[in-house]
Amino acid sequence: MPVISEKGQLMPQSPIRKLVPYAEAATKKGKHIYYLNIGQPDIKTPEIALKAVKNISLDILAYSRSEGSETYRKKIANYYAKNDIKVKHDNIIVTTGGSEALLFAFGSIMDVDDEVIIPEPFYANYNGFSTASGVNIVPVISKIEDNFALPPIEAFEKLITPKTKAILICNPGNPTGYLYSKHEIQKLAEIVKKHDLFLIADEVYREFTYDGNTHYSIMQEPGLENHAIIIDSVSKRYSMCGARIGCLVSKNNEVITTALKFAQARLSPPTLAQIAGEAALDTPQSYFDDVIEEYVERRNTLINELQTIEGVKVAKPKGAFYCIAELPIKNSDNFAQWLLEDFDVNGETVMVAPAAGFYSTPGVGKNQIRIAYVLKKESLVKAVNIIKEALKVYKD
Ligand SMILES: Cc1ncc(COP(=O)(O)O)c(C=O)c1O
Repeated sequence: MPVISEKGQLMPQSPIRKLVPYAEAATKKGKHIYYLNIGQPDIKTPEIALKAVKNISLDILAYSRSEGSETYRKKIANYYAKNDIKVKHDNIIVTTGGSEALLFAFGSIMDVDDEVIIPEPFYANYNGFSTASGVNIVPVISKIEDNFALPPIEAFEKLITPKTKAILICNPGNPTGYLYSKHEIQKLAEIVKKHDLFLIADEVYREFTYDGNTHYSIMQEPGLENHAIIIDSVSKRYSMCGARIGCLVSKNNEVITTALKFAQARLSPPTLAQIAGEAALDTPQSYFDDVIEEYVERRNTLINELQTIEGVKVAKPKGAFYCIAELPIKNSDNFAQWLLEDFDVNGETVMVAPAAGFYSTPGVGKNQIRIAYVLKKESLVKAVNIIKEALKVYKD
């Protein structure tokens, strides 16, 4: 029998998707499941993007340029300008989702065994991308008691070694919902300049900020031109997860010319979806106002309901649409599976993401779950009630 690679064996399963077989079995038994485990919003995609694809008339569905179509990149640069991020179209490479932008960034700036420092808990697939790239994640723990604010900068500094190439943040954060302040970004800017590191910011949730807080991008910070790399995506912004369009942005020419070689090797980002992505940029502000109002209401409902459960601790998100909740249990992997296999309230149960997979420090986050508030308020109330009832009878 030919042997599978060590790297292949090390690739982690997605903590978000690994419970799917149990959910399928529960559905077959006739249970209704509230899916709080995955960041697939139920928000409608802007009409303007869908229409652009419906009205398309093409003779050949051809490859696009490897860096993405020029008209699209010029429009993306305009979008950034409106967000006070000054970049040109040739600072942008269109990718197959933010996921590919992360892979290109890792591939462009890190070699095997290099290190990237990431505040944890972090978006679980960073584990997968780093394993695929042979890169080591060095976690710096942020705490639920601090709402997952940026850990003290000294904690980062202690972890820097000759192998350290970058610091990666997600802002606003998945799974924490934390929004880094301008001051926190400036602290990170100082340290990456001092140690000559890259600063990668995954800003795919840029629009989703609440309570009057505004997003401060690493590219708004002066002096980071050679250090900053933005990861972006249309998936959440326009509820277009299936389009598979994102981009990598940097003013560092060497980063762009290197990432372009990775882009050339995979030939082209999806041509049809770029048409949708380009049209989506004309989405009126009223769309975002409505979506944000909806997410704020959902967040408030979710947090209020969770706070009625004894022993549950929760960090109030300032952005994105996730929160981490600490439960009075020992092992949320077992709890999440048990919810699907053995528990229901009137034929209904919930699917949550066990949070241990969002940490790379072994043993941390075992009593936490991540909840995505991607369902309507009424469903969130029912789902949290199921968790409440479940905790009354669950035995670790
Ligand atoms: C923080 C973060 N980054 C990147 C991605 C990748 O998204 P996509 O590849 O759909 O653009 C996601 C998806 O959930 C995410 O939450």
